[in-house]
Amino acid sequence: MPTRRLAKLMTDPRKSTTVAVAPMMDWTDRHCRYFLRLVSPYAELYTEMVTAAAIHHGDADRLLAFDDSEHPLVVQLGGSDPDLMTEAAIDAARRGYDEININVGCPSDRVQSGQFGACLMDRPELVAACLSDMQAAVDVPVTIKTRIGIDDQDNEAFLYRFVDRLAEAGCRRFIVHARIAILEGLSPKENRSVPPLNYERVFKLKRDYPELDVMLNGGLKTIADVDAVLSRVDGVMIGREAYHNPFFLAELDQHLGHCEDLPDRMTIVERMLPYIDSEITKGVRLGSITRHMLGLFAGQPGARAWRRFLSENAFKKDAGIDVVESALSAMRDASRAA
Ligand SMILES: Cc1cc2nc3c(=O)[nH]c(=O)nc-3n(C[C@H](O)[C@H](O)[C@H](O)COP(=O)(O)O)c2cc1C
Repeated sequence: MPTRRLAKLMTDPRKSTTVAVAPMMDWTDRHCRYFLRLVSPYAELYTEMVTAAAIHHGDADRLLAFDDSEHPLVVQLGGSDPDLMTEAAIDAARRGYDEININVGCPSDRVQSGQFGACLMDRPELVAACLSDMQAAVDVPVTIKTRIGIDDQDNEAFLYRFVDRLAEAGCRRFIVHARIAILEGLSPKENRSVPPLNYERVFKLKRDYPELDVMLNGGLKTIADVDAVLSRVDGVMIGREAYHNPFFLAELDQHLGHCEDLPDRMTIVERMLPYIDSEITKGVRLGSITRHMLGLFAGQPGARAWRRFLSENAFKKDAGIDVVESALSAMRDASRAA
C-alpha cells in the first residue's frame, strides 16, 4: 500500500514536475537531456541558460534545438531587456518548449555585466517588466529561478520584496536555490557551495505564499534528502547529483511511485546507440555525447572501467558506437574480476 503522500503524488497531475533537473551550463546540453530522458521519463528537464541576446544575434536554431523526447522541457533564458527577453520567449514557445524560466540565480561576472542573473534580485521592477511582457506574449508558463538573497541581503524581507513583485506580475512558480549568491569575490563554483544552505527560508516562503508553486534546489543528493523536504515544498530541483549519478533520477521515479521497476542501465546505453550513431553522421563527436554518460554506473561494479574506457577513447578521431560497446565489455570484465 502506498503511503498517503505517495498516493497523492501518484494521482497528482503535476507529478512529472515534482522533480526537475537543474539548468547547468556546459552540462545539460541536448545530448545530456536526451540521455537523462532515457533514465527518467518523468523528471522535468532544463536547458543550459541561453541568453536572449545570443538568440537575437546568434544561431537560434542551434541554441534552442531539442529532441521531441525531451519533454517536459524548460528553456532557461538569461537577460533583462524586456524586448529581447520577449522575443526569445516567443521563439522558444513557438519551438515547443513547455515552460520558460528566467535566470535570477547565476552569480558570474560575465552575467552581472550583462545585467542578468542573481544581481537582478535587487531589480524586481525590471524582472517584473520582463516577466509580464513575456507572459503576455506566450501561452506557456514563465517562471523564475532565484536565490534566497544576495551579498549582505540575506534576509526574508529582501526575498519577499522580490517574490511579491514577481507574483504580482504573474509568476506562479519559483525555483529557489536555498543559498545566497555572493556577487563579488566568489567564483560561480564557490557560489554553489560556500554560502550555507538555508532550507528553512524556502519552507517559510512556501508557507507564507501557499498559492505559489515553490521548488527547492541546492544540495539534494539522496532519497532521504528529497523526502525530508518534499512535504514542505511543491517540488525539488536536482543539479550536480543528477549529472554525476544520473541513475538517482530513476531511483527517485520509483521511490515517488511514478514507476514500479527501475530501468536497466545496459538497456539505457543500448537505447542511446541509435541516437549516437545518427548524431555522429551529423558531425558530432562521440565524446560530446558520452561525457554525459560517465556517471551512469556510479556505485556499480565496473563503473571505473566504464568511465575510464570512455574517457580515454571517445574523443579519438573517428570514434563510433563500437567504443561504447567496448566500454560495456570493459565494465563487464572488470565487474566479473571484482
Ligand atoms: C556546471 C554547472 C552549471 C550551472 N549553470 C547554471 C545555469 O546555466 N543557470 C542556472 O540557473 N544555474 C546554473 N547552475 C546552478 C544549478 O542550476 C543549481 O542551482 C546548483 O548546482 C545547486 O543545485 P545542486 O546542489 O543540486 O547542484 C549550474 C551549476 C553547475 C554545477
